[in-house]
Amino acid sequence: MLSPLSVFAAKKRSGEKIAMISLYDAPSAQIACDAGADALLVGDSLGNVILGYPNTIPVTMEDMKRHTAAVVRGVAQSGRKDVPVVADLPFGSYATIEDAVKNSVALMQLGAHAVKLEGTTEGTPENTITKLIQNGIPVMGHLGFTPQSLLTIDGVVQGKTLETAWPLISSAKFLSQSGCFAVVLEAVVQEVAALTTQVIEIATIGIGSGAECDGQVLVWNDLVGITPKTFRFVQRYAETRSVWASAAESFITEVQASQFPLNTHAWQMEPDKLEELRHHIKDDSDWLDSADDLNPWTDVKLP
Ligand code: KIV
Repeated sequence: MLSPLSVFAAKKRSGEKIAMISLYDAPSAQIACDAGADALLVGDSLGNVILGYPNTIPVTMEDMKRHTAAVVRGVAQSGRKDVPVVADLPFGSYATIEDAVKNSVALMQLGAHAVKLEGTTEGTPENTITKLIQNGIPVMGHLGFTPQSLLTIDGVVQGKTLETAWPLISSAKFLSQSGCFAVVLEAVVQEVAALTTQVIEIATIGIGSGAECDGQVLVWNDLVGITPKTFRFVQRYAETRSVWASAAESFITEVQASQFPLNTHAWQMEPDKLEELRHHIKDDSDWLDSADDLNPWTDVKLP
């Protein structure tokens, strides 16, 4: 049986482009799979996109576990149950090999097919990536702009000079040789992304790194136009923020004007039963006093 991740190598070989979407919940995952996505990423962009943080640093393993499980359920509800799910290891969760293995195992046991981590872990006495792979955990790399290192790297756009481009290409080679199945290139100047794509064996998935990468990844809320702010590298394929806003405005206006709900939004009592109830209330003058003794939930049958 082929691994769901084999799509990365197969498409690198055939030259077909890989379309990956970073998303965080079951309905979006189901829609993306049914729309034909090659792979899903549960990105730690969860932090800024969904949880309201300014960046990805506050995202925890608990956050990633909850949203990974939701995305996995969304794939299972779709018509394409073999779409691979890659889950991000959040900030600080792979600082030691033990943590990296423990946290990756937790995400895989929730149904992720692989984990993604930022940087190379190159130069550590034991290569974390190799260790993960030895433990049966497929790894996707992430180079260029790595948001978890936002406070230690210089600027957003990466690889503008020989001094910065060459280490980037070497790191990509290192990831490929270490056994990663693919690497995200974020905000890498497009010539360097193109060269990297040519010289490494594994698929490059670009975001803000030009058209020559083997595939592209976009954040769901950006591509459907929910995010208010648009970055240069984002293509909004719809403007659904305004659709959500106008739906919310209509609901609020209709509730405030007593136009919603209509009878069709509720359930009605049979007229004879209602009449009976009215008589009961009228006949029993103590009804209100005794109402406290009634447990209103005992006999309620929910529709
Ligand atoms: O967290 C994320 O969504 C990502 C992608 C932008 C590559 O890492």
